[in-house]
Amino acid sequence: MPAAKPVQMPYGAYHRTDIPGHDAELTEIQPGSPMGEYMRRFWHPVCLSDQLADVPQAIRILGEDLVAFRDRSGRVGVLQRHCSHRGTSLEYGIIQPKGIRCCYHGWVYDIDGTILEMPAEPKNSRIYQTIYHGAYPAFERSGLVFAYMGEPEQRPEFPEYDSFTRPQGTKLVAFSNIYPCNFLQAFENVADHFHTAILHNGMTVESLDEATKKSITLGGFVGLPTVHWEAVRDGNGIMFVSCRRNPDNQTFWVRSIELSFPNFIQFGGLYASARRQRHSTVALSRWHVPVDNHNVILFGWRHFNDEVDPDGEGDENRCGYDSIDFLEGQTGGRSYEDGQRAPGDWEALSSQRSIAIHALENPGCSDTGVYMLRQLLREAVRGNTPADSTREGAKGGKDTLHVYTQDTVINVPKRLDGDDEELMMSYGLKILEIMKEANNMPGAQRDAHVRACLDKLDGGLLAGC
Ligand code: FES
Ligand SMILES: [Fe+2]
Repeated sequence: MPAAKPVQMPYGAYHRTDIPGHDAELTEIQPGSPMGEYMRRFWHPVCLSDQLADVPQAIRILGEDLVAFRDRSGRVGVLQRHCSHRGTSLEYGIIQPKGIRCCYHGWVYDIDGTILEMPAEPKNSRIYQTIYHGAYPAFERSGLVFAYMGEPEQRPEFPEYDSFTRPQGTKLVAFSNIYPCNFLQAFENVADHFHTAILHNGMTVESLDEATKKSITLGGFVGLPTVHWEAVRDGNGIMFVSCRRNPDNQTFWVRSIELSFPNFIQFGGLYASARRQRHSTVALSRWHVPVDNHNVILFGWRHFNDEVDPDGEGDENRCGYDSIDFLEGQTGGRSYEDGQRAPGDWEALSSQRSIAIHALENPGCSDTGVYMLRQLLREAVRGNTPADSTREGAKGGKDTLHVYTQDTVINVPKRLDGDDEELMMSYGLKILEIMKEANNMPGAQRDAHVRACLDKLDGGLLAGC
């Protein structure tokens, strides 16, 4: 979509009152739309396990009204919400030992949509042989319920990343966050790495006292980074490498984060401690699941282990429905005025309009990642991208699906007689190469290999200190 003509004079608002349309190809997800059909080729979380109790849960995903439930045999079902008989919502259904019973005339549906009972119909009714209720395959994993909403014949394996179990003893805790905006705004926000140095380091909350400022900032993101973006997985995703000099001027922090299409990210340490880690892994895995074109739910797992949170700052008890422990209060639970005084991601993203108008943007160099993401995603939606290896999962227990997400501190002093950003990024790119070369090693072996290579790179963390 061509960019609209920008305002080019002082007091020029009069010349910029027309609002172009949104980019439907990238943002609309209803059945039959290009992005909607592309999205449906992947597994997505659709609710938290905790939401499935003794009554069904009405959910809306990809613009479809559904109901999720766990029957009394412990199996999860994701069914079209309105009963196949005469349309009563199954959110008022009665959960059965096997399946769910519509409250109106008692039809019972199994989790695959098979009709098990029709109390007011003859036992030999042809309906048993000819009709199924609409159902989607679903399973539970570490507190999330996943469903596949695409063509049955196209169903992929669930992508088993080694980060889900690494390092040993990692605990995954499920959460969700609800944003009143299009999914793409939330997804591309991660490729927009520069915002972390501004929105999340207190630059925009100058008027607050130090304690409040600390509670709404991440601490680790002080200082503008130097950033490199590139495509990964044959164009089915994007990653970036960012470098920031530590205050000691002896070390610097290399952070890399991967985004996998259509809507999955995994990012590393969430606190200032990430700046002193040596090749630490994923702290958060998150899917950006469209409710409809104007709302998104961020479902994910917080990873609790000593590697990504050595100081124990995370709190698993604050992760759950529309709640996560870091950046607390930025997910819509605050008053409007509090959001104005200390805005976070929720305020920044949901106020870009419910679907951001790309044609009105004036992008700069710092938006390179966002624009690269949109271009790659468009190619994937159009089918111009090779098949995604993540769609095949990790078959046969082979530990091959790992991410480029990591945090590493490098022990090389600040360059005083030249471009320190260039120096740092030269190391950042070497780390990326090391990770790529170790791509097919099993997780634990790869970690040891990468750490050994890092020691060769900078002589080890104690060198020169
Ligand atoms: S409307 Fe559901 S059984 Fe009749
Ligand atoms: Fe953010």
